[in-house]
Amino acid sequence: MQVHWVRLFAAGVAATFVVTGAMAQDLPSLDKKDRYKVGFPQMESNNPWRIAETESFKKTAETCNWDLITTDAAGSAAKQVADVDSMIAQGIDILFLPPREEKPLIPAVMRARSAGIPTFLVDRSVDPNVAKAGEHYVAFLGSDFVDQGRRVAEWTLENFEGDNGIIVELEGTTGSSPANDRKKGFDDAMAQHDNMKIVASQSGDFARDQGRQVMETLLQAHPDVNIVYAHNDEMAIGAIQALELAGRKPGEDVLVVSIDGTRDALQAIIDGKMGVTVESSPFFGPLACEVMGRYANGEKIEPWVKVEDRIFTADNAADHVDEAY
Ligand code: AHR
Repeated sequence: MQVHWVRLFAAGVAATFVVTGAMAQDLPSLDKKDRYKVGFPQMESNNPWRIAETESFKKTAETCNWDLITTDAAGSAAKQVADVDSMIAQGIDILFLPPREEKPLIPAVMRARSAGIPTFLVDRSVDPNVAKAGEHYVAFLGSDFVDQGRRVAEWTLENFEGDNGIIVELEGTTGSSPANDRKKGFDDAMAQHDNMKIVASQSGDFARDQGRQVMETLLQAHPDVNIVYAHNDEMAIGAIQALELAGRKPGEDVLVVSIDGTRDALQAIIDGKMGVTVESSPFFGPLACEVMGRYANGEKIEPWVKVEDRIFTADNAADHVDEAY
């Protein structure tokens, strides 16, 4: 698969693009227009990451001449499908879809294509065995989630000070691409080390409160846990709350590691309660505008427009906390 790397920033896209890859002939094209009716059906708004992503699209609408339609599926894949159907009925020119889960959103992707609406998947993907970039939708814009999990594992292996790691993993939304891939990247890396054992792995649905509740329960069964790997920062912060309530000392007797780069996570790193967070940027609006412009110009879009992620630790968290969300 052809990819190129970009880095996302709140204010814009800091990268030049190399145009490669093939565009399937039956994908809907995009006419050149002064203004576009753009659909962005958000999956939920219960965490800072989602709110920052929606804000990024709203801000971009002003500079990219979009009439933006946004919805909030409140954590329901079925509602997100209905929101896409409603946007199709409203005659959107283009769809930027963050699919909550890998399978349930596929019919919506297919219906958008049948309706002649070019679709870009944003930040999460769908099952690649069923729906393919360049064929059923134009491209996926997002991070390499397997690599994010692998990078957290590598940092943990380098920085964990004990002899044997007893690991609790807090998974993201079941059936979502970041939960599947972040688990794979981390678990595969840890499986190569006999002294590292994942004793429990359970979903906290990418939410702070659920992360806290799941951690409370898992602490009963595994009081000797000394590493917590959360698939996102919200669950990591929830886990820190549960650990502290149980009299544990995150950062001292248990290493907490995670993904995203939210303000609370960077602050937790500064406070010594968290070890690392690998970035997963929510600022997709400017990238969506850029890729849309290229597509309207008839350029071929590579199937995966890959986002480059930084890593935040005690070495640099203070330098980035003020710009975080
Ligand atoms: O799809 C990206 C993930 O979704 C983010 O890591 C998470 O915080 C969000 O809900």
